[in-house]
Amino acid sequence: MIPFLTIASTLFLSSVIAADEAFPSIPTTFHVAMTSSDDLKPIRREVYGERKIFDITHRYTQDMPVWESTEGVKPFLRLTTSMKNQSLSNTSEMKLSVHTGTHLDAPGHFHDKYYDAGFDSDSLDLQVLNGPALLVDVPRDKNITAEVMKSLHIPKGVRRVLFRTLNTDRRLMFEKEFDSSFAGFMMDGAKWLVENTDIKLIGLDYLSFAAYEEARETHKFILGERDIIPVEALKLDGVEVGVYSLHCLPLRLPGAEGAPTRCILIK
Ligand SMILES: *[C@@H]1O[C@H](CO)[C@@H](O)[C@H](O)[C@H]1NC(C)=O
Ligand SMILES: *[C@@H]1O[C@H](CO)[C@@H](O)[C@H](O)[C@H]1NC(C)=O
Ligand SMILES: *[C@@H]1O[C@H](CO)[C@@H](O)[C@H](O)[C@H]1NC(C)=O
Repeated sequence: MIPFLTIASTLFLSSVIAADEAFPSIPTTFHVAMTSSDDLKPIRREVYGERKIFDITHRYTQDMPVWESTEGVKPFLRLTTSMKNQSLSNTSEMKLSVHTGTHLDAPGHFHDKYYDAGFDSDSLDLQVLNGPALLVDVPRDKNITAEVMKSLHIPKGVRRVLFRTLNTDRRLMFEKEFDSSFAGFMMDGAKWLVENTDIKLIGLDYLSFAAYEEARETHKFILGERDIIPVEALKLDGVEVGVYSLHCLPLRLPGAEGAPTRCILIK
């Protein structure tokens, strides 16, 4: 046993060193990997590489909130084969609404005509979902009305904006129970955005980009534009306002009017 272990750890070390030399610009990654393999506990991060990459995606857990429910997502992941039961591998399957957690909406979500025509998550423009983005703080005492939009002075030419609201301060995405008092766009704010800005990606920090009160009309209006993508339930705490490179890569699901998406910000 002992000689084998020695050989194995020597091999492991040499492969780590080789990897380190191959990627000298990211040395910390490999320290982390070694620590984690020593105590067999993976590191889970919100920020990677000295505040360079921010993960603005919520973890999909059974306790995240679901629209108009008090019970959260409930168990959605299960092992179909398990090594504890003598299978050769662990294999999980998941079942969840495509509007769970950090996700985006496609035009088919509120327009049956577009749903039938195939405006699904597979039809969304990756050039809109990836590129420079502005993270802004919106006033905490109001929903996003036309007046608020105006006060933010978002310059023309800005195509992607993440709006951080009171929802982040209230940590609403960490509460299992749905809270309809979340902040979001009011209809007049959405109209103002379409008429006065070049914004094509709207990111918000709760399950709907539109405030509950006017959620249906506002979704219908924004998704009716077909070239604006709402990204919802982003995790925006711990990130400074400013300009970042945004990268959102939704699951490619033909026929689905939305999709869970991983979103990151790179400074
Ligand atoms: C999954 O696989 C690991 C081995 O990689 C095993 O130790 C573990 O018990 C398995 N988990 C379950 C729930 O079967
Ligand atoms: C293992 O098999 C037992 C009996 O079929 C089942 O009750 C249990 O849920 C299985 N465990 C896993 C992790 O699949
Ligand atoms: C935003 O609108 C919701 C209703 O959709 C309301 O409950 C909430 O108080 C409003 N938030 C603010 C900050 O005004």
